Amino acid sequence: METKSRLLKRNPESTRTLSRPEVTVTQPKSEPAKPQPTPDAGVGGSSLDTMVAACAMELMNARNSFHKLHLKVTGEGSYAAHVAIGDFYDGLPGHADTLVEGYQGVTEKILKCKDVTPRTLDTVADGVAYLRDIYGMITKLQGMLPYSEIVNNLDLVKDSINSTKYKLLFLK
Ligand SMILES: [Fe+2]
Repeated sequence: METKSRLLKRNPESTRTLSRPEVTVTQPKSEPAKPQPTPDAGVGGSSLDTMVAACAMELMNARNSFHKLHLKVTGEGSYAAHVAIGDFYDGLPGHADTLVEGYQGVTEKILKCKDVTPRTLDTVADGVAYLRDIYGMITKLQGMLPYSEIVNNLDLVKDSINSTKYKLLFLK
């Protein structure tokens, strides 16, 4: 009987030492200022909008120009060129899509993409010159873009250009 009553007795010390988890209330931080694109300059929105749209259209056109070169390249070293060009143009529609979707998402507006005449490429040298031009166009655009995520995506296009140019110049 004595043992049973001792078991039922509560130890007052144990309840007193229980600690409750502390609740810390943090105030929401104010959002950093959203980068703003360049101001509107006439038809087609801002000059940055125009440049992004033009870049995307160039990448789409380049896909077809390089596909045609891939099919017409012949002579010594042409198999390496054929394969290198094929790998390059395969990636271009995805790069153009990523650029436009990303830009339209961040700026919350739809771009006006105007048709541009595609470039005709007859030789591997034409292809290399075009790769240099696209690289330059992208670098210029990157310098104007306030969105690092889009700048980084464009680096992947330049990386693909570099790799293709290396193969066209040195793998025969
Ligand atoms: Fe092919």
